[in-house]
Amino acid sequence: TAALLYVKDAAQVVTVAGASGKPKTGAGMNDIGVIACGSVVVDGDTGLIVFVGSVPEAESFVRDRIQASPAVEVHTVDAAGKIVLPGLIDPHTHLVFAGTREHELEMRLQGATYMEILQQGGGILYSTAQTRKATEEQLAEQSEKRLDRFLLHGVTTVEAKSGYGLTTDDELKQLRVARRLHESHPVDIVSTFMGAHAVPAEYKTDPDEYVRIVIEEMLPKVAEEGLADFCDVFCEQGVFTVEQSERILEAGKRHGLIPKIHADEIVSFGGAELAAKVGAISADHLLKASDEGIRRMAEEGVIAVLLPGTALYLREEPARAREMIKASVAVALSTDRNPGSCPTESLPLIQNLGCLMMRMTPAEVITASTINAAHAIGRAAEIGSIEVGKKADLVLFDAPNYAYLQYNFGVNLVDTVIKNGRIVVQ
Ligand code: NIG
Ligand code: FE
Repeated sequence: TAALLYVKDAAQVVTVAGASGKPKTGAGMNDIGVIACGSVVVDGDTGLIVFVGSVPEAESFVRDRIQASPAVEVHTVDAAGKIVLPGLIDPHTHLVFAGTREHELEMRLQGATYMEILQQGGGILYSTAQTRKATEEQLAEQSEKRLDRFLLHGVTTVEAKSGYGLTTDDELKQLRVARRLHESHPVDIVSTFMGAHAVPAEYKTDPDEYVRIVIEEMLPKVAEEGLADFCDVFCEQGVFTVEQSERILEAGKRHGLIPKIHADEIVSFGGAELAAKVGAISADHLLKASDEGIRRMAEEGVIAVLLPGTALYLREEPARAREMIKASVAVALSTDRNPGSCPTESLPLIQNLGCLMMRMTPAEVITASTINAAHAIGRAAEIGSIEVGKKADLVLFDAPNYAYLQYNFGVNLVDTVIKNGRIVVQ
């Protein structure tokens, strides 16, 4: 090894380790592996974590390394008075889109509902019109700014969905932009195809024809170009029915895409039950998920990705996180970053809302935005906890302990972000 990054003497290292390859559930979500006065050592060449532990052990680890190869360069990051967490992971975003929708905030404040705005051709369809008009360059430029802000809030990996193109070419364009940003930006992007985000105006009178296009034209091309790992649908009254959603997700599976679902957001619609039936990796939103749906998700190991920022922004009651945790459903948290129902890149704010709106504990919200979020995007073998052999995606917060993070809100306490063993925010 030619170089080591030595994150030294943190007030707490919150490892979130110890789930043995599975998402954390039940009381396990509070088990976040706090090391007081801890250090982390990273191999600068591989960008992987090579040591996690107490300060004296770290000192002897680094000394041994220097003895073994005296030329090794040690770069020390003084973490005194700070805490170290795994880089935060956002498992549900609509990152790539063009234009903005501030006019809809005022419409909603005057009483229009999210669904009324969509049914009148606004909402997702407004963003679709803007996205169709944009070039790949324009889309990349606008989306990159959002990615920059995610990073400044301690987020090192995001999932990103298509779904503002709603034609084969425009869906592929969005996914190509996501791939390009993944390659050029420090934040890693995991892509999801969501051609079934809304029925475009052209197919309003024949939604089944649009479903056919998603299945027969879009999915094969997305799979062929290797542009997505997951397939998602907006299963909701007035958007895609349970039956249409099932057909799309099953077709996705045949192309190697793992199902995800926007489930039971506005009305109780059977989305959680469908997630269990098709073996989805996650069901997301779940504001109106039924008891039976929650029970089925626990049985099938479907992760609940909860989006309390969206509930707040739409002024809806949040999902029943406590009941889900009690039922042994693994819970993850996400911003749902999108132009209509949750325009924020602050995952730490979403953690606050997890506590304040859904009564999750500070430890649970950390699990929900690290290891459980990693599981929700199929990346838990590489990221989501601070363990030897995992990627050195680390975030230092200017906080004396982890509870202080959720006790403060609406402020950014990020001090330093390390991605793949390199300091990217300081
Ligand atoms: O997850 N619910 C559907 N899709 C997004 C919102 C997209 C938009 O309004 O642009 C969501 O909330
Ligand atoms: Fe969403």
